[in-house]
Amino acid sequence: MSGAIHDGQMYAVHEELHLPYKSGIMDFHAVCTTTGIAPNRIRYFESEFRDFLGLPPQVTAIDDFDEHQVQLFLQIHRMMVEEGLPVSDVRQHLQRLRESRRQALRIITVTSGKGGVGKTTLSLNLAIAIATTGQRTLLIDADMGLGNVHVLAGLQPHGTILDVVDNRAAIDDILIDGPAGLRVMCGASGIPELADLDPHRLERLVAQVNQAAHHFDVIVVDTAAGIAAQVTRFLRLADDIVLVTTPNIAATLDAYGMLKVVHHTRMRGRVHVVVNLVESNKQATAVFERLRDCAQRFLNVETAHLGQLQKHGSVERANQNRRPLMLEAPDSLNANRIRTMAAALCAAPPLAAPDTDEAARPMDLLVRSFAGATR
Ligand SMILES: Nc1ncnc2c1ncn2[C@@H]1O[C@H](COP(=O)(O)OP(=O)(O)OP(=O)(O)O)[C@@H](O)[C@H]1O
Ligand SMILES: [Mg+2]
Repeated sequence: MSGAIHDGQMYAVHEELHLPYKSGIMDFHAVCTTTGIAPNRIRYFESEFRDFLGLPPQVTAIDDFDEHQVQLFLQIHRMMVEEGLPVSDVRQHLQRLRESRRQALRIITVTSGKGGVGKTTLSLNLAIAIATTGQRTLLIDADMGLGNVHVLAGLQPHGTILDVVDNRAAIDDILIDGPAGLRVMCGASGIPELADLDPHRLERLVAQVNQAAHHFDVIVVDTAAGIAAQVTRFLRLADDIVLVTTPNIAATLDAYGMLKVVHHTRMRGRVHVVVNLVESNKQATAVFERLRDCAQRFLNVETAHLGQLQKHGSVERANQNRRPLMLEAPDSLNANRIRTMAAALCAAPPLAAPDTDEAARPMDLLVRSFAGATR
């Protein structure tokens, strides 16, 4: 049975083993009987591969296991017992696997200096445009205070990340199905409680989110406005930072303020500017050039012009009707522009992870960003 486990064929294995994914967690006894691996061997794998299993330093053995951990046991068992590989080779193999997955994932964070400039509208429609191209896409609402992705998308949340923490649901259960295969995580409610999570439970959550992330090619994160830490944490994850502004002078100044933060905190993401609510292309170009010139002159930061969206009643109407523009007016100028933006963003490969713990494990950082949001 374990011979059927190959990289990237997790689903086939899931079906074969009939693992109870929906409940998310298996106890030690269930892991032994389901996988056929001897109890002492599982404990040995725990001690040798604790970093891959996501065990915190102070924990020696755990009593319940998630999907990711059970699959790892099976992979390790195949390599060590069936193929006779030494621990060092198995570790190397797992590391390579982790890196290949990491590099395949792209994180796009949508942000702005000033509020109300169209971030959520753009995040949602951009995510749909990307999902339509066949990429497995997750949209995360990281606006802690006023998360409203589900409102604009016309979706009903049925769980929060807290349900995952308390083992009431697997990550998969709290993701909502959106248009074009898009999945949506409404993170806002329940997030403050994450700040109080003990390290053991936080590590387990990290492992679960990491596992869930393997099922996606692109993650789009919608943030709140402004340069508070609870926003900028999410920018640090990004391969691509989409900075939304408008011709409004205050919005442009605040966008510049955001660029300063990107520069001063040495964020790795590429910055793309979108000018929303424009009356004409000329107006958009003028806004972008002003921003780009200041960023070059004073910060030495390069920015790219991803595009512009017209101020148009169809956008407001789509939001009011809780039906995304990409569905409500798919042939409109703005919908076409959003498709062009999606294609441009996905044309460049995701950034290779530099050799630091933080950047190398974006999903870890994502969970910690949620958890750190109220500190
Ligand atoms: N191109 C557009 N044309 C017309 N109206 C727009 C356009 N883009 C956004 N809007 C409207 O502007 C308002 C703010 O949009 P949205 O909620 O997407 O902004 P936001 O940046 O996410 O706001 P917040 O900072 O509060 O999270 C909404 O009423 C939306 O319908
Ligand atoms: Mg918003």
